[in-house]
Amino acid sequence: MQHKEFRVGYDEYGSDEELASADAELLSIARRVTAHAYAPYSNFHVGAAARLVNGEIVTGTNQENASFPAGICAERTLLSVAASLHPGIAIDTLAISYDNANGPSNRPIAPCGICRQSLQEFEQRTGQSMRVILGGQSGKIFLLPQSSLLLPFAFSADELK
Ligand code: THU
Repeated sequence: MQHKEFRVGYDEYGSDEELASADAELLSIARRVTAHAYAPYSNFHVGAAARLVNGEIVTGTNQENASFPAGICAERTLLSVAASLHPGIAIDTLAISYDNANGPSNRPIAPCGICRQSLQEFEQRTGQSMRVILGGQSGKIFLLPQSSLLLPFAFSADELK
């Protein structure tokens, strides 16, 4: 028997003032686009903003539906926008924020399981890791060097070969 473990290293910042300016700008866009979310059922408005490797910025927000499972998260909206408008272009950095109308928005949230799966395949298909910035409207911020760290034991396209 061999014991094995995954290690997830990430950087924690006290506030956006400690971030590099390009990262602070991306997080501020993610915070701002929460206003474009359609979340009348949860009142939990999520915003995502990505800087592609070609310098373009794309955004996504959660879009809910009266048929609840038909709703889509901000992260997967963003991945669809990126792949549709800029096919084949990798994401350098993705920032995720939120605005919770039912409570505080002052700590980082991490993507849901389905979004983690989609993020890791986006990294795989573009052949480049994606930095991930997680932060609320205020408070501390987490920076991960790649999105696939969020999903150990991921199921991947390799399994289908
Ligand atoms: N949501 C996201 O957009 N991203 C996440 O990573 C977590 C959850 C959305 C889905 C739903 O519209 C609302 O937040 C509450 O779950």
